[in-house]
Amino acid sequence: MNRPLLLNPGPVTLSERVRNSLLLPDLCHRESEFFDLQDEIRQRLLEVYGLDPAIWSAVLLTGSGTAAVEAMLSSLVPAPADGGRLLVLENGVYGERMTQIAQRHGIACEAIRQEWTAPMDLAAVRRRLQAQPAITHVAAVHHETTTGRLNTLDALSALCSEYGVALLAYTVSSFGAEAIDFSQPGLAAAAATANKCLHGIPGACFVMARRAALQQAKARTLYLDLASWSRAQDQRGTPFTPSVHAYYGLREALREFADQGGRAARHAQYAALAGQVADGLAALGVKPLLAAAESSVVLRAYHLPEGTSYARLHDGLKARDFVIYAGQGALASSLFRISTMGALGTADMARLLGEVQQLLAASA
Ligand SMILES: Cc1ncc(COP(=O)(O)O)c(C=O)c1O
Repeated sequence: MNRPLLLNPGPVTLSERVRNSLLLPDLCHRESEFFDLQDEIRQRLLEVYGLDPAIWSAVLLTGSGTAAVEAMLSSLVPAPADGGRLLVLENGVYGERMTQIAQRHGIACEAIRQEWTAPMDLAAVRRRLQAQPAITHVAAVHHETTTGRLNTLDALSALCSEYGVALLAYTVSSFGAEAIDFSQPGLAAAAATANKCLHGIPGACFVMARRAALQQAKARTLYLDLASWSRAQDQRGTPFTPSVHAYYGLREALREFADQGGRAARHAQYAALAGQVADGLAALGVKPLLAAAESSVVLRAYHLPEGTSYARLHDGLKARDFVIYAGQGALASSLFRISTMGALGTADMARLLGEVQQLLAASA
């Protein structure tokens, strides 16, 4: 029997190496072996983008990607009484989710809301930063998986540096595969997760945070207090019980990531697979939502071919061991999405394309 291959945007198909690491011995999180595990993960996370541990802290958390994002926003944007004000850029589900998080925490917040299919509007951001000098932080999604769009994070970072505001980057589905310019002084933190481009399992997430930003942090919650997690981890401690086995998986995934050539190699691998899928689908008459130049290498969205419902395509492919992903919201009835993260190869994508061809031929 073929293993099911996950083409959804995380969790990903695991390599055997990462899967086997989940069978390592049970481990108490107050023992030195756990702190060795935690230290290695934190160090390897810094190495993904060559970050200096004196300037950056890799703050490891237990939870899904949204926990990391919520920890970042709720810990780093000061209370309104302390002068904090957040500008959120929205062009998809995940940007909109950041506004919801900010509202839940009583963060003074405003948004620049775009159509889901539109690019980030940097001119509008500049106008807003000029008009509202009270804005202290900007939050934006790097890879908006709603559409597969890669937002122009580095240009936004540069703009934030120019205006002296801090950028909080949502890099959940780009960290490890897409370029992020951490040298921009405007970039204060980036939140991400183990189970996407790094190929770990769900349950571990993290925030790469400037130590200077952590020093000024004032948490709104007990559990998602980024600065206290960072302090405890620097001292080989942990405030609460972490998901030890998710950490085993992440450590092995990071070792495998380095052995396979690091971020450049991962980007090249995804780009090749995404290109293979896009070309193969184009040959079958299936059109992409966005041009390749606007898309991430991690995931792309496609228009459902006329006469084929998502349910039919999904169920047909699932019966053949491929799990694809629906569009969200108003895009649910017109789009499908294919991610090329995880332990996948060109032979897998060739088989996928063959199955799609057969399904479309049967419905013609
Ligand atoms: C950009 C992005 N953020 C977050 C998630 C999932 O969030 P969580 O890990 O909290 O379930 C997804 C999953 O599709 C995603 O694509």
